[in-house]
Amino acid sequence: MKRLLQVEGINVQASHLKLDGMARGKAMNHSQKEFHQVSLDKVSYSWPSGTPAIRQCSFSIPGPGLWMLVGSNGSGKSTLFKLLSGLLKPEFGTLTCSLKVALVFQNPDHQLLLPSCESDLLLSLSQKLNISKKEHIINTALEQVGLAGMQSRPIHTLSGGQKQRLAIAGALVSEAKLLLLDEPTALLDPASQQTILDIVQQLSHRSDNPLTALWITHRLEELDQSDGAARMENGQIGPWQSGNQLRKLLQPLAS
Ligand SMILES: Nc1ncnc2c1ncn2[C@@H]1O[C@H](COP(=O)(O)OP(=O)(O)O)[C@@H](O)[C@H]1O
Ligand SMILES: [Mg+2]
Repeated sequence: MKRLLQVEGINVQASHLKLDGMARGKAMNHSQKEFHQVSLDKVSYSWPSGTPAIRQCSFSIPGPGLWMLVGSNGSGKSTLFKLLSGLLKPEFGTLTCSLKVALVFQNPDHQLLLPSCESDLLLSLSQKLNISKKEHIINTALEQVGLAGMQSRPIHTLSGGQKQRLAIAGALVSEAKLLLLDEPTALLDPASQQTILDIVQQLSHRSDNPLTALWITHRLEELDQSDGAARMENGQIGPWQSGNQLRKLLQPLAS
């Protein structure tokens, strides 16, 4: 079984969606034009049981950066990720995703399969590459997530935060450009939580090939570290706003 679920080139086409001023500014900075590589236009999806999960949802990611989604249980966040990664197909509407996708789950034990860091990362690499190229890619990815030199470390000896970093390294070696992170820090202590945030921040703001990260969180304090945040409710996503603004709006409701 492939550990990281990767898809690329779903239904590539232009889509024009409403963004608020902040997100529109971001989009223009990144691409200088209003074309979004990841967008939904009036997408709906109901599970075979008949449960509607995504309802006429329109949404786009302005460009590379760290974008956060927040919403109550059952609002459709994980279903959205399944649609973006190609595991599910929209029943109605248009979904555009021209970036290669990698998923990072809340519990890294659900996606790390092999005994050592290196063997696990090899799963995400093209088998066509020669050994020295594979080693180089793996070493670089481990370095980028702060696990340099841990190629032969047994995975069961890693902390939760280190396992999550390894899951991100898997995304890097797969050359994914869109990271979908479903509550990646929910099981981590505050220090590991911040490390994961810092790594994803860095990867999504590096000057060479910045990633697009869409991060689902229940931890409102994380919103402040995003480039923009949106609220998901009843299968629909609200406009992008600053994470700080959204946190202030939601905090009274959470207490
Ligand atoms: N595998 C599934 N089969 C049937 N219904 C599902 C399944 N997964 C989620 N749902 C339903 O879809 C809706 C959205 O769920 P989900 O996307 O998991 O929300 P969230 O991630 O925001 O908690 C909920 O009503 C949930 O019960
Ligand atoms: Mg969920």
